[in-house]
Amino acid sequence: MIDLRSDTVTQPTDEMRDAMRAARLGDDSRDGDPTVRELETLAAARTGKEAAMFVPSGTMGNLVALMAHTGRGGEVLLEDSSHILKSEMGAIAQVAGLFHRTIRGERGAMDLGVLTETIAAQLKPNKLATALIEMETTHNGAGGTVLPLDHMAEVHALGRQHGIPVHTDGARLFNAAVALGVPAEQIARHSDSVTFCVSKGLSAPVGSLLCGTSDFIARARSFRRMLGGNLRQAGMLAAAGIVALDSMVERLADDHRTAKQLADGLHRLSSGLVDPESIETNIVRVDTTGSGWPAEMWSAALQRLDVRVAPGGPMQLRFVTHRHISPADIETTLQAFGEVWRKAPGQPMAGVGQRHGR
Ligand SMILES: Cc1ncc(COP(=O)(O)O)c(C=O)c1O
Repeated sequence: MIDLRSDTVTQPTDEMRDAMRAARLGDDSRDGDPTVRELETLAAARTGKEAAMFVPSGTMGNLVALMAHTGRGGEVLLEDSSHILKSEMGAIAQVAGLFHRTIRGERGAMDLGVLTETIAAQLKPNKLATALIEMETTHNGAGGTVLPLDHMAEVHALGRQHGIPVHTDGARLFNAAVALGVPAEQIARHSDSVTFCVSKGLSAPVGSLLCGTSDFIARARSFRRMLGGNLRQAGMLAAAGIVALDSMVERLADDHRTAKQLADGLHRLSSGLVDPESIETNIVRVDTTGSGWPAEMWSAALQRLDVRVAPGGPMQLRFVTHRHISPADIETTLQAFGEVWRKAPGQPMAGVGQRHGR
């Protein structure tokens, strides 16, 4: 089975398993787990922040960040298709008690004019104050796009100007860093806090890090506890995270190359499926409209050919490349895709430019 549903399907490496077995452990929420502390120190250094906190998931990292930066009842400004809104079960409202206002985006980057107009620096009798601005890079919903650094700097400057904290959901921060060819710190410096996951393309089995100032992380620790995220001998997991940060970052470039290989092959099959120029990292969003079949049918048909892909919308498939996907797997995937494509009803007949029914 070629599993392109997500980079979260990656299995820990042998080096990670050895490190997990050998890890020095303690009670993280009592005296501190030495391996968790080591990972937190490493994460803070990689992101150029004062401190970091290990959390079980990116979702919890984002939620804790929202809670630690704001009080209940404020308004969060974030891009239309942010992961926090699309896939985190409304925790922003249900748990953090925050309102949100979406800002129109282009390739995941909020329109700066609209953002500027929407910021409300102070609570007014008839208007909520902006409590936080959130960015996401790489941007999952936009197809693994990387926010330009000058865009991030402008958003951060707007936040500073109005005394509003800025958080970045950097679940795939290191994909962004590799794509830009800069250390992660150069991205993270453009927000007050950042989350990143070691459990995605970096291949660790579990965990994310929330990074920010020491005061912010101290506040965040009590929210993590409140949400049930206090862990005990979590060094078992952190040990794999340390290996992830030490040895899995540079190879993300391989995943970006296989994503491009996939997009190029699909584009050759039919140019409407995907624009290869739009591929910046390891996510390829494919428009199935031209095939006449919705994404659900595509994913079922591909699964019968041993290729697993997640629908990303009614007429959109999402392919994510990762450590277990080789260039040869991409060729196999392209063959399978071509086979389904030829059976699909909406495909123009070769040389005739018409559609044949079935
Ligand atoms: C952009 C983004 N943020 C947050 C998350 C949540 O991470 P987790 O699955 O660890 O909760 C994901 C997961 O895919 C993501 O893509």
